[in-house]
Amino acid sequence: MSIPAKVKEQYISLIEEIKHHDHMYYVLDRPEITDAEYDQLFDRLLKIEEEYPGIIVPDSPSQRVGAEPSRAFKSITHRMRMLSLQKVISPEEFIDFDRRVKEGLGVVSDIAYTVEPKLDGLAVELIYENGLFTTGSTRGDGTKGEDVTQNLKTIRAIPIKLSDETAHKYPLLEIRGEVIIRKSSFERLNRKMLEQNFSPFANPRNAAAGSLRQLDPRVTASRPLIFYAYGISSVDLPALETQFKAMQFLKAEGFLVNEFVELVAGTEAVKNRFEKLAEIRPRLDYEIDGMVVKVNEFKEQVRLGEISRAPRWAIAWKFAAEEAETKVEEIIFSVGRTGVITPVAKLKPVRVSGVTVSNASLHNEDEMTALDLMIGDFVIIRRAGDVIPEVVEVLKEKRTGEEVRVAMPQVCPSCGTRTIRPEGEAAHRCLNSACPAQVIERLFHFASKEAMDIEGLGGKLAAQLVESNLVKDPSDLYSLTKDALLPLELMGDKRAQNLLNALESSKKRPLPNIIVALGIFGVGETAARILAESYGTFDKLYNSSLDELMTIEGIGPVIAQSVIDYFANPGNRKMISKMETAGVEFPPYQIKRQKSAISGKVFVITGTLSAPRDTFKAIIETAGAKVSGSISSKTDYLLAGTDAGSKLEKAKGLGVKIISEEEFNRLLKN
Ligand code: IVH
Repeated sequence: MSIPAKVKEQYISLIEEIKHHDHMYYVLDRPEITDAEYDQLFDRLLKIEEEYPGIIVPDSPSQRVGAEPSRAFKSITHRMRMLSLQKVISPEEFIDFDRRVKEGLGVVSDIAYTVEPKLDGLAVELIYENGLFTTGSTRGDGTKGEDVTQNLKTIRAIPIKLSDETAHKYPLLEIRGEVIIRKSSFERLNRKMLEQNFSPFANPRNAAAGSLRQLDPRVTASRPLIFYAYGISSVDLPALETQFKAMQFLKAEGFLVNEFVELVAGTEAVKNRFEKLAEIRPRLDYEIDGMVVKVNEFKEQVRLGEISRAPRWAIAWKFAAEEAETKVEEIIFSVGRTGVITPVAKLKPVRVSGVTVSNASLHNEDEMTALDLMIGDFVIIRRAGDVIPEVVEVLKEKRTGEEVRVAMPQVCPSCGTRTIRPEGEAAHRCLNSACPAQVIERLFHFASKEAMDIEGLGGKLAAQLVESNLVKDPSDLYSLTKDALLPLELMGDKRAQNLLNALESSKKRPLPNIIVALGIFGVGETAARILAESYGTFDKLYNSSLDELMTIEGIGPVIAQSVIDYFANPGNRKMISKMETAGVEFPPYQIKRQKSAISGKVFVITGTLSAPRDTFKAIIETAGAKVSGSISSKTDYLLAGTDAGSKLEKAKGLGVKIISEEEFNRLLKN
């Protein structure tokens, strides 16, 4: 069938349009259209392709999805070996590396380095032939990897086609980088996995690796993977001269390049940059485990060469170790507030990144079996950020034969009720809701900061209150008197009064906190806020129906059912009515858009700022203003960091007010 010229024209321009929006969304993180509008464009594309199958071009966005599952990955031999990096962990060690570089090059002057965050995902290689993405593989053992082309194609941050100029200039281009999942997407993904009764991923890196190594590309397509390009593997690219220029080139070709890549000279500057990265690390929406320092000049890289699978021209400067070795002294089983029984490894205390750790969560029976952990084992534990430490590896070679295996308990360690493992669930549970361990945990949760925020009510006091029969459910807290409290161990007049005062102020907590406090299964801070926003009042939530709950964006069927079950339970209803009688206010909830000096204004952000753009975007939006991706006459302010490019020029041309980060901060304070 011949294709009318008009359709062809429409088709090509649709592809361009979709590619533009993919780039805005997945690479620049600044969408210009809604998801629904995007879907409409995509539908139009699919319709044309359905009607005229002969029209389909290999770089059509439709070709990213829909490939058939394969039975196994093919093996791919990398043209150039994918090296690993040697690491340093102190300024002294880095200075040593710098000295070796200088000796190798026979220079004494400062070396120019690009410094980049070391992304914690998995390394892949992308091959572009005549500008078209043809093959993608995992690192594997460095020599051979797995062919994951179809899966990589589903990642929208990876361009399928490069510019014509590049296609012409570099008929073969090998690009390397890291596939990762953002922390925020990871949390969303895990919530979804739980909703669907799958085991959640332990961390974003596992989630990224697990998602990329799926035999069915349609599964990969449903996972929020992104790709950061960090290098080009063949160095004989005459025009590119340096790593820094290569990064700019990759950016211009539409790749996501990390925003904290910098060019610096000398060890002092590298050290400053390392400290800066360590400082911003907790605020980043992706995991990094250090900084990669690379000699900038490609010619010098070639001269330095490599040694035992690692380049002499690059080094990984890692953040202080978050892993340590220790011994498992005991395995105990703790009962959570919903009755879930969690195995916990009691460890010989060990210091990890500045904190003494003596417990590690083993999650559930399956995880424990997978680790094959026994009492007496030597293990590697890991502590990342605020999360509960985990056992990542059992050092089986250190076993003596004295180790003892433990099974999940048949009865609840707190109340002795028979435990069950519901079908399709990973967790063992104690179903006795009056189980003392559960009551203590519920009380502790009720008092926590995100809930009723009752100062002074920690785990110990919660246990005392339950064990002395003063409290059977959290609402009993509001009937406590000083006389009742004083006989408790370590309870003086002052402490008792403070607790009573804290209880009194807790009656005024906003609705989302109250919803968290109830301890509905699956309803944490996020879901509670969504429920408070959707219903506005506690009464409406209390009387809602399953159908109503299911229509709320962000509330899945499992949580919806759990809310219904919670409010149907007579014990819970009684507790709520006791809270009301005691004077807990249950105030209505309205989302407050803050009024500020910038309310209603339109911002565009450009250049490098002291924090990622997302952070600034969030600040601007909570202050009631908007962020747009492109400069127009409607723009009120251009927030410009260093290295601002074309946007700065355009803003000047249109007379848009240009402000620095400092001026921006001042503006916000007003
Ligand atoms: S360059 C020869 N740059 O770190 C240079 N690697 O041991 C090889 N990584 O698994 C890599 N961020 O995936 C480079 N900005 C970055 C990186 C980075 C993370 C990973 C890489 C590899 C490991 C190197």
